[in-house]
Amino acid sequence: MIRSTAMTEHYFSEKPSVPFRKESFVARIFDGEDITIQSGSGIFSLKELDFGTKLLIAHAKIPKTSCTVLDLGCGYGIVGIALKKHYPQIILTMSDINERAVQCAAENVKTNNTDATVLKSDMFSHPELQQKTFDVILTNPPFSAGKKVCIAFIRQSAMHLNKNGLFQLVAPHNKGGESLKRIMLEVFGNAGELVKKSGFRVYISIKK
Ligand SMILES: C[S@@+](CC[C@H](N)C(=O)[O-])C[C@H]1O[C@@H](n2cnc3c(N)ncnc32)[C@H](O)[C@@H]1O
Repeated sequence: MIRSTAMTEHYFSEKPSVPFRKESFVARIFDGEDITIQSGSGIFSLKELDFGTKLLIAHAKIPKTSCTVLDLGCGYGIVGIALKKHYPQIILTMSDINERAVQCAAENVKTNNTDATVLKSDMFSHPELQQKTFDVILTNPPFSAGKKVCIAFIRQSAMHLNKNGLFQLVAPHNKGGESLKRIMLEVFGNAGELVKKSGFRVYISIKK
């Protein structure tokens, strides 16, 4: 059987092979803070923001003082960009394995007059990330890439957080989130919830 590219291509491919059809839309999480997003085929949530993404941004816990933040698996960059606009004190890094997503994220940083370091990286493998630690790591993990990858996101993030650093993850609770929360509890020794809405929850752990 010949499988079409559309069937085999995933948003977490390192080099998406589907032709790059650009899309753009305006996203608003916080009143008066519109963000113009350039997206495209081969990138997660092509034409509008994912519900989990919006929930994560709206309920993220961000320290009031200057702090380093990593948007892990940033896609076209909406989590980091929206948070940087709303909390200018953050020093933002965004990373993704998908080169097309990284390209869009970098363009979206410029278009929306934000400031961020954008890196193409398989989790923390980029030289700039290998030794780096953060005060906050946020992620909407790639469920389609499999549970192993999502668990690796949690375990590796724990090694890249400062003391009292915050790890925050959004997921559909009954479709994998509950088990990821258990992993967070095992890894960090604590796991709470910032919000639950329409089947999704934002989980949080503190690095002790
Ligand atoms: C569910 S999407 C979330 C994208 C974006 N944060 C959002 O909420 O719109 C997960 C992202 O993780 C990225 N990803 C998958 N595996 C990865 C890996 N090993 N390292 C870094 N990013 C990865 C995917 O390319 C995808 O952009």
